[in-house]
Amino acid sequence: MASLNRAAIRRFQREIWQHYRAHGRNLPWRNTRNPYRILVSEIMLQQTQVSRVLLYYPTFLGRFPDFRALARAPMREVLSAWQGLGYNRRALALKKIAEAVVLRHGGKLPKDRESLLALPGIGQSTAGAVLAFAYHIPAPFIETNIRRVFLHFFFPNGKKVGDNAIFPLVEQTADRKNLREWYYALMDYGAMLARVAGGNPNRKSRHYKVQSKFNGSNRQLRGKILELLITKTSLTPLAIARLVGESNLQIVQVLAQLQKEGFIVKRNHSFAIGR
Ligand code: ADE
Repeated sequence: MASLNRAAIRRFQREIWQHYRAHGRNLPWRNTRNPYRILVSEIMLQQTQVSRVLLYYPTFLGRFPDFRALARAPMREVLSAWQGLGYNRRALALKKIAEAVVLRHGGKLPKDRESLLALPGIGQSTAGAVLAFAYHIPAPFIETNIRRVFLHFFFPNGKKVGDNAIFPLVEQTADRKNLREWYYALMDYGAMLARVAGGNPNRKSRHYKVQSKFNGSNRQLRGKILELLITKTSLTPLAIARLVGESNLQIVQVLAQLQKEGFIVKRNHSFAIGR
C-alpha cells in the first residue's frame, strides 16, 4: 500500500476525530508547550502506561522543574524520584540529556531531529513527538499506539508489517491544521484499540515485542541493587549479595554492567550511585 485517495484519507480522519471528540484524554503533558515538560513525559511514556506515569509526573517536575535543575541534581535523587516507573536507564538518559542541553545547547532543547537523535534515550518516535508537541513542527512518527491504528485500518490481514510501510500513511493522513491534537487523537484511538476485544493489532507488526518477564529477570536484580544503593549510599558487593540473596558472582556481574553504563561508581571496595 503506497498511497491513499482523498476520500479514504477524509474517512479515516473523520473516524479518528470523532473518537477524539467523544473520548480524548486530558493529560497534563498535553496542556503545556514547555519542551522540558514534554520531553519528560515522552521519556516516561516510552515504556510505562499512562496511568502509572500520571502518578509520578507531577512529583518529578516538582523536584526537577527544568533542564538546569535536573542537570544539577545528584543522580541518586533522580533515580529515587524514578523508583516505581521501571527501566532506570531512562532516568540516566534524561539526566544526561539535561546536562547536554545545559552545556551544549544553552539550556534549550534543540528543535531539529538530528540534534535530538544525538541525545541519549531519544529515538525516532520520541524525537518526532517532541517536535510535534513542543515545537509544532510536522515530523511524522510512529509509536506503539499510532502503529496500532494504522495496522487496524490499513492492514486488516497484514503479517510482519514493517514501519517503513506504515510511515507513508502516517505522513499522508496527518491533519496539518492541528498537528498536536491530531497525534493525540491517533494515540487515544490506538490506546482504545488495545483495550477492546479482537486481539492487539500490533501483533501484525514486524516490530512486535512482548515486554520481557520481570520476576527473576536481570532487570529486576538491577532494580533491586539500585534501590539498595539509593537508600544505603555505599555498599560492598558482598553486602549487596547478602541483602538481595543472590550469589556473589551474579552480583559482581550486574555491578560491572551498572558501572559500565554510568549508574554507579566504585570507591575503594564499595559501590555507590554515580554523580
Ligand atoms: N500524549 C502525548 N504523548 C503521549 C504518549 N506518548 N502517549 C500517550 N499520550 C500522549
